[in-house]
Amino acid sequence: MNANLTVLDHPLARQALAELRDKETGPEVFRLVTRQVTTLLAIEATRDLCTRTCRIETPLEPAEAEVLDERLVVVPILRAGLGMLDSVVQLFPSVTVGYLGLERDEETAQASVYYSKLPIVRGRTVLLVDPMLATGGSACHALADITAHDPARVLLLCIVAAPEGVRAVNEQFPAAAIFTAALDRELNDRKYILPGLGDFGDRLYGTL
Ligand code: PRP
Ligand code: URA
Repeated sequence: MNANLTVLDHPLARQALAELRDKETGPEVFRLVTRQVTTLLAIEATRDLCTRTCRIETPLEPAEAEVLDERLVVVPILRAGLGMLDSVVQLFPSVTVGYLGLERDEETAQASVYYSKLPIVRGRTVLLVDPMLATGGSACHALADITAHDPARVLLLCIVAAPEGVRAVNEQFPAAAIFTAALDRELNDRKYILPGLGDFGDRLYGTL
């Protein structure tokens, strides 16, 4: 698949996926591992952020140093994306946060918006976080909402992606770069990812 897609290649990510996929993993560990793998994803996705040079004083002498020179926005897609938010805020404490509430209809798997609150997005780098990219319907809704506000770029961070979802995002939003910990095989007839990990929101919040 030649897509605007990066699949994490790290043993810690593979171990995290093993724990998330295991049906015996309960919400406590599921939340912890979600935060761990999101940290890896966020580091990978932001490796080309702009920096600027500044002068600092070490205890021994003046030196040149580099600091981040980009304004970031993070937007979790409710509700499962909330499990990824803390890790991004930990890495980038000055990030501004927007929220998009999207829910798939259980029968049709069509996503619809029930909440939207975005900070200033124009000219900024947006990290859109949602653990599951299945049909791509939710991500495409969110990308339409965000790109209408003219961001510098959007980086989509997910934990498990299906080829169908990657294709949908690439076709509709070719500039959006997707970062995932796993690219799975396919969707089943209920539009769940296989092998996947089940319903992420239910597993995160214990609402099975
Ligand atoms: C899940 C997931 C994504 C969406 C992916 O959310 O968190 O947002 O499904 O599926 P798609 O690519 O086919 O749109 P869900 O609608 O189950 O809501 P929840 O996070 O509130 O549980
Ligand atoms: N949403 C989930 O939580 N899991 C899937 O497999 C597909 C969509």
